[in-house]
Amino acid sequence: MKEDWEVLCLDNLITGDEANLSHLKDHPGFTFENFNVINPITVEGELDWVMHLASPASPPDYFKHPIHTLKVNSIGTMNALGLAKAKKASFFLTSTSEAYGDPLVHPQPESYWGNVNPIGPRGSMTRASASPKR
Ligand SMILES: NC(=O)c1ccc[n+]([C@@H]2O[C@H](COP(=O)([O-])OP(=O)(O)OC[C@H]3O[C@@H](n4cnc5c(N)ncnc54)[C@H](O)[C@@H]3O)[C@@H](O)[C@H]2O)c1
Repeated sequence: MKEDWEVLCLDNLITGDEANLSHLKDHPGFTFENFNVINPITVEGELDWVMHLASPASPPDYFKHPIHTLKVNSIGTMNALGLAKAKKASFFLTSTSEAYGDPLVHPQPESYWGNVNPIGPRGSMTRASASPKR
């Protein structure tokens, strides 16, 4: 925003709080839309960048929302990539160190494959199948 970019922020506020954006509310280049990126994303006009940061990000949050976490990191990423492709925009994704599981190497270089337990407590699928409300 300080560099005068126009920013459209999509967030369904599942773990976020619109109050965190109060300092941007009256900024002429900033628009907020309450939107779930699991749904197809349509944006008018040109885009230079699509930045996908949408996901429950802390263990209590993704433990609470395992299916949503799976969906936003799969379908949401697919939708964000589709938007970037349609607009010929650059794409930026903030992954998570969860991708390395319980890493045995610190810090993790890009060449490290990780030490992952897909059925461990941090695997969203495990949490989802353990949920009685499934
Ligand atoms: N904070 C860190 O240290 C860190 C480190 C590495 C990676 N990351 C990753 O960066 C991303 C952002 O992290 P953060 O710390 O800013 O988290 P954050 O909780 O502040 O922001 C994530 C936002 O995503 C929104 N969201 C979740 N599902 C959504 C959906 N379906 N549609 C629209 N919005 C949705 C939430 O409401 C929340 O406001 C996450 O993917 C996280 O895993 C964060």
